[in-house]
Amino acid sequence: MKPDVTAFFDEATNTISFVAKDAQGTACAIIDSVLDFDHAAGRTDTKSADAIIAHVTANGLKVEWILESHVHADHLSAAPYLQEKLGGQIGIGKNITLVQDTFGKIFNEGTEFQRDGSQFDQLFSDGDSFMVGQMRCDVLHTPGHTPACMTYVIGDAAFVGDTLFMPDFGTARCDFPGGSSAELFSSIQKILSLPDETRIFVGHDYKAPGRDEFAWETTVGEQKAKNIHVGAEADQESFVAMRDARDATLSMPKLIIPSLQVNMRAGNMPEPDDDGAVFLKVPINKL
Ligand SMILES: [Fe+2]
Repeated sequence: MKPDVTAFFDEATNTISFVAKDAQGTACAIIDSVLDFDHAAGRTDTKSADAIIAHVTANGLKVEWILESHVHADHLSAAPYLQEKLGGQIGIGKNITLVQDTFGKIFNEGTEFQRDGSQFDQLFSDGDSFMVGQMRCDVLHTPGHTPACMTYVIGDAAFVGDTLFMPDFGTARCDFPGGSSAELFSSIQKILSLPDETRIFVGHDYKAPGRDEFAWETTVGEQKAKNIHVGAEADQESFVAMRDARDATLSMPKLIIPSLQVNMRAGNMPEPDDDGAVFLKVPINKL
């Protein structure tokens, strides 16, 4: 089964959202949507999500799933907005509870913030599968970037989130709380054990030396042959040394503080205060 995959690139956050449609029907899944956020103004916008809605509507698609590969730290999820407009169930990995626990503490959330994943409709474990129309989606737990990262394999298409990036860019960082470069290496081996012709759709792209266009589609075979971090004879020890050294030089994503607070709530804002106003926190010297 080969789903029809449509990509939506958000240049503000270098994020790619995908719509994967059953080639035989109208069912589809939306993967890693974006709610636009102007941090300086504290203002959200639905331009990116509306582009997905327009695509779904124009093609008469039925949204069955709104999937998150993980709790993103660089953009806000539009999952609740899309669900309200299009339906579908919101799913994420079951280790979301670990992420909620970690960031529930960092943001000093009260007891009203549930850390049991109940904000999501479905929590997936490694090896689970579900249907998108007539297509089966197999779920792989691929931690390392975060403890809750999942890869969704729909037919011949693997949506790998932030694990592997394009072969000339390499792999995702592993220095967020709960991340682990050794775990990421193992997770990547799991993805690379899929058939060589499996299409891989990556969650971010930043261009790369010698490539001046954004890209998001590659294959398992191409990753094995060419990925600059894990291709060819890369071994776990040298990968871990390289990844950890590189991560030590990276600054935090611009939207990490708002993103975590919203995305750990399945894309919902915190509860409004008594006057009905919504606020996000800025923890000082905690990240
Ligand atoms: Fe991420």
